[in-house]
Amino acid sequence: MSIPYTKKVLQYFLHPKNVGEIKDADATATEGSPSCGDMVKLYLKVDPKTHEIKDIKFQSYGCASNIATASIITELAKGKNIETAKDISWENASKELGGLPPVKVHCAVLAVDALKTAIENYENTHGLLKEKISTDDKIAIKRLRHVINPIAGRDIVSTNLVKDVKVHDKIIDVTVDMAEDHQFYNNIADEIIERLIPLWDIEKVIVIGTPD
Ligand code: FES
Repeated sequence: MSIPYTKKVLQYFLHPKNVGEIKDADATATEGSPSCGDMVKLYLKVDPKTHEIKDIKFQSYGCASNIATASIITELAKGKNIETAKDISWENASKELGGLPPVKVHCAVLAVDALKTAIENYENTHGLLKEKISTDDKIAIKRLRHVINPIAGRDIVSTNLVKDVKVHDKIIDVTVDMAEDHQFYNNIADEIIERLIPLWDIEKVIVIGTPD
């Protein structure tokens, strides 16, 4: 059964805008899982004075809905102040694209989440948080809910891959229920570090595997 995409979705899927990597990005965010395949990574370059998004690019391994949404939100966000860009929603993207099939909305949400997380990471690392809440295990675990366990296809918290999270002296220790020589260990460890290191008061993230 073919998916009823609009002409505009197909047009953006076949000819996406702002695809690629920004080598010296000011902030990045990955949503989905590189080890699972459904993944979108977003890069931001922000003017330090005006906080305007000067450049934005994405790389996606998702479906047509994900690629078209990522493409349209990068167009919507470019040139906007990060405060305004934060409000871009999957509904905005869907409207611009002439609608998305309901079964494909989660793919659009994935792309919009990447934009929101990249902005949040920028704010964390550039002293722009309105309220500086000290990172605790709850904040860390909330972020870890966005890291996918490739074995289960769901996040590493709800699938109990995360055994323990300790925050101390600007360091987060994350113990995972996986041997360090497991084929997915390095991927997961990298994703955990990428997800937690932007937190404004954290300097180091240590991932600890379980013995064989
Ligand atoms: Fe996986 Fe769309 S991104 S089905």
